[in-house]
Amino acid sequence: MTRHAGIAWCQRSLWGGLSWGVLLLVLLNVSINARSISTSWRNRVAESRMRARAETWRHCSRDEMAVPFRRNLHYTYIDICVPPGANSTAFGSWHVFKAGGSTASQMITRACDCINGTLLESFRYRSLEEMEERLGHHPVEFFAAIRDPVARFLSAYGEAFRRGSFTKIRSVRRLLAKGETPRNKIVLLEKILDLFSTAEQLAAVNDHFLPTVEFLSFAQPRQPPPPSLRFALDLTKPNATLKLWDFLSARYDLNRSGTCATPSPAELHDRHRDESYLTACYPSDRGACIAEEFQKFAPLFIIRVAELPERLVGRIRTIYAKDESCYQESELIARSLV
Ligand SMILES: *[C@@H]1O[C@H](CO)[C@@H](O)[C@H](O)[C@H]1NC(C)=O
Ligand SMILES: *[C@@H]1O[C@H](CO)[C@@H](O)[C@H](O)[C@H]1NC(C)=O
Ligand SMILES: *[C@@H]1O[C@H](CO)[C@@H](O)[C@H](O)[C@H]1NC(C)=O
Ligand SMILES: *[C@@H]1O[C@H](CO)[C@@H](O)[C@H](O)[C@H]1NC(C)=O
Repeated sequence: MTRHAGIAWCQRSLWGGLSWGVLLLVLLNVSINARSISTSWRNRVAESRMRARAETWRHCSRDEMAVPFRRNLHYTYIDICVPPGANSTAFGSWHVFKAGGSTASQMITRACDCINGTLLESFRYRSLEEMEERLGHHPVEFFAAIRDPVARFLSAYGEAFRRGSFTKIRSVRRLLAKGETPRNKIVLLEKILDLFSTAEQLAAVNDHFLPTVEFLSFAQPRQPPPPSLRFALDLTKPNATLKLWDFLSARYDLNRSGTCATPSPAELHDRHRDESYLTACYPSDRGACIAEEFQKFAPLFIIRVAELPERLVGRIRTIYAKDESCYQESELIARSLV
């Protein structure tokens, strides 16, 4: 066994033991924090599940640090709300691209408005020290939106086209040349996966393709996510945005502030949002959709999970193997908590 394989084996065995450890820790944590924040039993279950998911993803991301991964993004975007009060606990949303991070940011922004908190928007998180300096005596807890890797990939695929990241690459332009353009978007996707067959190659095309475990590290050289990454939820699941809102509402006692209405689904990016978002051209996105190209190619890059043949689903899950195993693991642990 090479040293590397040995390390990998050790990590796997450790991981098996850790899963149970994590479960125990989570249960313990929940009982310690039972006073918490939330009033209803349902809120408490949702919260303990969010904690369990975050714990799992933190471990996965820490494991991943041992594997070399070159990336261009040197920081993570976070939005932080600092509630009024000298040493109040700040709440941040860690922006995992294409996983519902904007939705989470919108909710935190609204909640922060309601309590007259101070909002740090799109803060570029490079180092823990810089962060602590910025926050002073305020401790911080983070939330991260996570998502099934296949759905997330398709969303990133659309985004990369929308932003012109693919169409500026010669080999892709050749695929799309007049008379050559594959009629079928599935064929095009398959050809693109032949050209960019690893997460690293895809991430070099556009940051939106970075695996979630890479997003959860926040600097270059990579740093594992800190223990303050404490909550995670797949916001594309039914009612998940409401669960997050209930959580924020309980934590900040938003009902008492009286002016903070629950956002309607239409106000939030929901899971049907991808298509309308991807087919729109926003002048504010610097060069995001070069109009003519965009009109021409949009029908080729908007793909729903249900439209994918099994072989491509399998291929994407393999490219994002770490995200895949972590997503399954975290959902399993979360479901086991009642
Ligand atoms: C805030 O924390 C600092 C340092 O721990 C402490 O000196 C100060 O008294 C605290 N302020 C309040 C209002 O708790
Ligand atoms: C926020 O500030 C406004 C204006 O100063 C004030 O009217 C409102 O009561 C404050 N809300 C909370 C929840 O403190
Ligand atoms: C979502 O919330 C609505 C309204 O609270 C409820 O009727 C529905 O059953 C929930 N759906 C799921 C899948 O939990
Ligand atoms: C806040 O108030 C609304 C409406 O009165 C209620 O439906 C909701 O459950 C309350 N939320 C919490 C967290 O107490």
